[in-house]
Amino acid sequence: MKRLNSNSKAATSILLLLLCSSIATCSADDLPLQDLCPMAPQAQTNFFMNGFLCKNQTSITASDFKTSRLNHAGDTDNSLRSSMTVVTAAEFPGLNTQGLAMSRTDLAMDGIVLPHSHPRASEMMFVSHGTVVAGFVDTENRLFQRTLRDGDVFVFPRGLLHFCVNAGFGLATTFSVLNSQNPGVMSIAGAMFAPESDDVTERLVSKILTLKTMAMAESVNNNRNLSSK
Ligand SMILES: *[C@@H]1O[C@H](CO)[C@@H](O)[C@H](O)[C@H]1NC(C)=O
Ligand SMILES: *[C@@H]1O[C@H](CO)[C@@H](O)[C@H](O)[C@H]1NC(C)=O
Repeated sequence: MKRLNSNSKAATSILLLLLCSSIATCSADDLPLQDLCPMAPQAQTNFFMNGFLCKNQTSITASDFKTSRLNHAGDTDNSLRSSMTVVTAAEFPGLNTQGLAMSRTDLAMDGIVLPHSHPRASEMMFVSHGTVVAGFVDTENRLFQRTLRDGDVFVFPRGLLHFCVNAGFGLATTFSVLNSQNPGVMSIAGAMFAPESDDVTERLVSKILTLKTMAMAESVNNNRNLSSK
């Protein structure tokens, strides 16, 4: 019986693995055609390709696969009280052809990341510490949002507008993995209006703060219902 159980467990995990790898195949960047392809130093070239050229195989080193760009908090001394650092293949050579990028967001109290989208990637966000309200809007204008705490994970589907806001009383930090080496960022405020267009930014900020209050109230209600059971 025990053996059967472990056999069926193994079968399930193999099935899951196959499923995941076939999903990854259709949703991430193109598959690499060789083991390693860290980005070569970008010399002046007069042609362009989808991705970056690989380094000479003989000069690849372990440090092509390490980055320390996300090991410190970004500067949150700005009007949104937030900072976002994205590491793509352009900054981290080892990511070239791997279909991955990573980001770190630091939010001071009341810090906000304004709605933006990544046209080429889904994003999986992990809350390292703090309390964050995260949400996204689908193409039918439905809002999906949740209050997240230490260790929680939230997914922003590819291409959809999303935001997050610090809903706690201290700093909050999140790390995200994105399934493209060059996810791209489209910010509605940045693209259509001058960055100094304070009016638009202010309205977005106050809208998001309203959403935060809604999410927090809902989360308090959920906890109450749980504790009353
Ligand atoms: C790659 O590096 C090796 C060793 O330095 C060199 O002999 C070779 O010509 C290089 N290949 C190319 C395509 O530059
Ligand atoms: C929690 O309880 C309130 C009041 O009874 C109710 O209106 C609300 O829908 C409940 N929420 C959930 C998530 O069950």
